[in-house]
Amino acid sequence: MARPKVQYVCSACGGVVAKWQGQCPHCAEWNTLEETIVDPRAAASRFQSIAPTQPVVAIADVSAEEVSRASTGSEEFDRVLGGGLVDGSVVLIGGDPGIGKSTLLLQALAHMARERPVLYVSGEESASQIALRARRLGLEASDAPLMAETALERIIGEIERRRPALVVVDSIQTVYSAELQSAPGSVAQVRECASQLTRLSKQTGVAIVMIGHVTKEGTLAGPRVLEHIVDTVLYFEGDTHSSYRLVRAFKNRFGAVNELGVFAMTDRGLRGVSNPSALFLTQREREVPGSCVLVTQEGTRPLLVEVQALVDTAHVPNPRRLSVGLEHNRLAMLLAVLHRHAGIACFDQDVFINAVGGVRIAEPAADLAVLLAVVSSLRDRPLPRGLAVFGEVGLAGEIRPAPRGQERLREAAKLGFSVALVPRSNAPKRPIEGLRTIAVEQVDEALSQAWD
Ligand code: TYD
Ligand code: MG
Repeated sequence: MARPKVQYVCSACGGVVAKWQGQCPHCAEWNTLEETIVDPRAAASRFQSIAPTQPVVAIADVSAEEVSRASTGSEEFDRVLGGGLVDGSVVLIGGDPGIGKSTLLLQALAHMARERPVLYVSGEESASQIALRARRLGLEASDAPLMAETALERIIGEIERRRPALVVVDSIQTVYSAELQSAPGSVAQVRECASQLTRLSKQTGVAIVMIGHVTKEGTLAGPRVLEHIVDTVLYFEGDTHSSYRLVRAFKNRFGAVNELGVFAMTDRGLRGVSNPSALFLTQREREVPGSCVLVTQEGTRPLLVEVQALVDTAHVPNPRRLSVGLEHNRLAMLLAVLHRHAGIACFDQDVFINAVGGVRIAEPAADLAVLLAVVSSLRDRPLPRGLAVFGEVGLAGEIRPAPRGQERLREAAKLGFSVALVPRSNAPKRPIEGLRTIAVEQVDEALSQAWD
């Protein structure tokens, strides 16, 4: 018998090479190439289009009706989805083990089961384990159908038979197709099963939510290809040590990206947090040095987050720069701007910065808050009480505007902040009640205004 032909598939990008090597030539990741048996069927289906074939028409002639959405029963979950789960869409949700993926989806499914046919497919837990969880969540009365199954063909058969409006697949990594020779959980299997389910969704209009495992780097296990074929990619972030869970939209064809849903893990499942800004601020009697409140904009919602800095004399020739939840490379840049344009040097100081509450902030509008927190810690002088800031810092020491400035200012005023230090072009045209705004153009000006 002829030996099966093998090739090597990268588990990070899905790239294929004929011979094993340490580094993937497509994405430059190390040790990601896995031996896979070449399967003509998988190769053929990869070139099959996801959407059903249709004739060519002009854009103007296509009738584009508003997508219809269903509520998941949780305001925060609806928000990250862009206002509810779109009928016939495919959602991929990733996160660390034990962070609450199954809990969130079981709650949503039980809610939606009241109005439409649903199906929960689990390859991770047995039906009795899921039922036990449902009892703990207070969902025992739900008659949502469960299916403990991992074979793709049987799952598809059941979906075609029942025609549910929503299917949750608890973990796409456990699903395997008997038609492929590769092992369950391998790149080829995950990719093939996900694309077959997506195709089924586009043909039949069933909404499918796939739960995905993440690697230790925090990206979805399996090739990035998964993220390309689905409509929406959500990630759980934040650490499992706190009881708060953040769900962020990473890609969304039906809503804003970076939208953040905030949940608290209680003994009866995940509950939405309606005023998340309070989570990311430390409540204290007196102001302390090294703390600055940032107004950040996550998706469509402004959030107030406390940025903390600790600047301390370094005892080694290479001082440490550490950032938790904020961009590490921007910290080095900000320290250089601080030295060059405000004459404040940190070259003999260790600098640590942290965003409170485990939230990750990638937007450059956080710069001014980081800068002020660093200077506040260095000078050992707290910033004035009731101050909130935002603004990007440029290499020329200029303070650049941030998008949606008015919304940020209104949120700060709503939460009782009395002073806002903002970029010149973000200054409000009409005064905001209860909020004094200080508009600045340069770093040195921002520093003198903050402590005047
Ligand atoms: P789970 O949804 O199983 O996580 P995942 O599917 O992402 O692996 O979440 C399990 C964790 O949540 C577990 O550590 C227990 C905790 N939990 C609660 O605190 N309260 C609850 O009501 C439930 C169901 C789970
Ligand atoms: Mg789970």
